[in-house]
Amino acid sequence: MNMKKAIVAISLALTSLCLNAQAQPASSFKPGEIWPDNNGVHINAHGGGLLYHDGSYYWYGEHKIAGVAGNKAEVGVHVYSSNDLYNWTDRGIALKVEGDDSDIAKGCILERPKVIYNPKTKKFVMWFHLELKGKKYDSARSGVATADTPEGPFTFIRSQRHNAGHWPQNVQPEQKDPESIKLTLAENNKFGGGPSKKHAKFNILGSHFEGGQMARDMNLFVDDDGTAYHIYSSEHNSTLHISQLSEDFLSHTGHYTRNFPFRWMEAPAVFKHDGKYYLIASGCTGWKPNAARSAVADNILGPWTELKNPCTGTNPSNKLGAAKTFGGQSTYVLPVHGKKDAYIAMFDQWNPKDAIDGRYLWLPINFTADGFEIPWISEWDLSHFDK
Ligand code: DGJ
Repeated sequence: MNMKKAIVAISLALTSLCLNAQAQPASSFKPGEIWPDNNGVHINAHGGGLLYHDGSYYWYGEHKIAGVAGNKAEVGVHVYSSNDLYNWTDRGIALKVEGDDSDIAKGCILERPKVIYNPKTKKFVMWFHLELKGKKYDSARSGVATADTPEGPFTFIRSQRHNAGHWPQNVQPEQKDPESIKLTLAENNKFGGGPSKKHAKFNILGSHFEGGQMARDMNLFVDDDGTAYHIYSSEHNSTLHISQLSEDFLSHTGHYTRNFPFRWMEAPAVFKHDGKYYLIASGCTGWKPNAARSAVADNILGPWTELKNPCTGTNPSNKLGAAKTFGGQSTYVLPVHGKKDAYIAMFDQWNPKDAIDGRYLWLPINFTADGFEIPWISEWDLSHFDK
């Protein structure tokens, strides 16, 4: 073999080695590492949520753009599918941003999309946090879209604040006081979405009674009886609302509760285990990680009892432990289909300067006598739950 032929043969062998390496299916979770899809591209589904339907998992999340800071929606909601949770196939954009006269105009803020299936209407229903284009985080709305198949395309229906004209089940008499409502309305534009003592002095709930309650970070939960709930940071992020959805999952019934007043919880994720409802959430520090929260309730609408920070251990790649949720922020909890007591807690490790390089921290939930724990494990697989 002459030199030229030898070089060609070596390059062919190397290429085939690389291709083989790429084609190797994944068989474990490696939290925080690049997670290639079927095309070898890092999965682009941030602030995501999962749906199990007809034997497949679907992962919906915010499609981010390389090198772009912040959170402007330039493309829409990306969807991937998988049969084993390790290997994901790119199914494209499930919900596309629209033209300038739409509420979901290109350049709006569209966060934390979640999809549930309604067996009565046979529709896949997506809810997401929406901030209208050019209005920063002032709109505090949710958007809803539906599709006939899990991959979409989803059709945008509308965006709104919630439960206008309805008081929560656990309303306090002072929240109905017209004087405090007037005072707060006069103050309203001066509130921010971050913790301050000022918020507690005003009647934020009452001031949004007529126009509908604010909604930012959010999640969905479908109970065993088929009733769906929308869980969202409300009242300028200071208080979490949990609201029942209508039978078609497309609107709010006016049946809702205020939870964790002035605990500033974002990133809520609810799951049910052995008849009890559990919640994971974060504090309110923008893109920066903080300590995870957890809570338990006998009824999804509360009352909720706060438990300890469930995280244990340290993420060796950034040296962050429980105090900073390993560098992540919760986005969803997945009950693994067909496996008893198997729940995966999902967190985003945001990268606000290069949003597309955000990483995913998927970790197992271990149930304990007084609640649950989420241990850091650098590599694990579903056999973890067989122990
Ligand atoms: C934290 C939220 O959880 C994210 O979804 C996003 O809204 C950022 N704040 C924006 O600062």
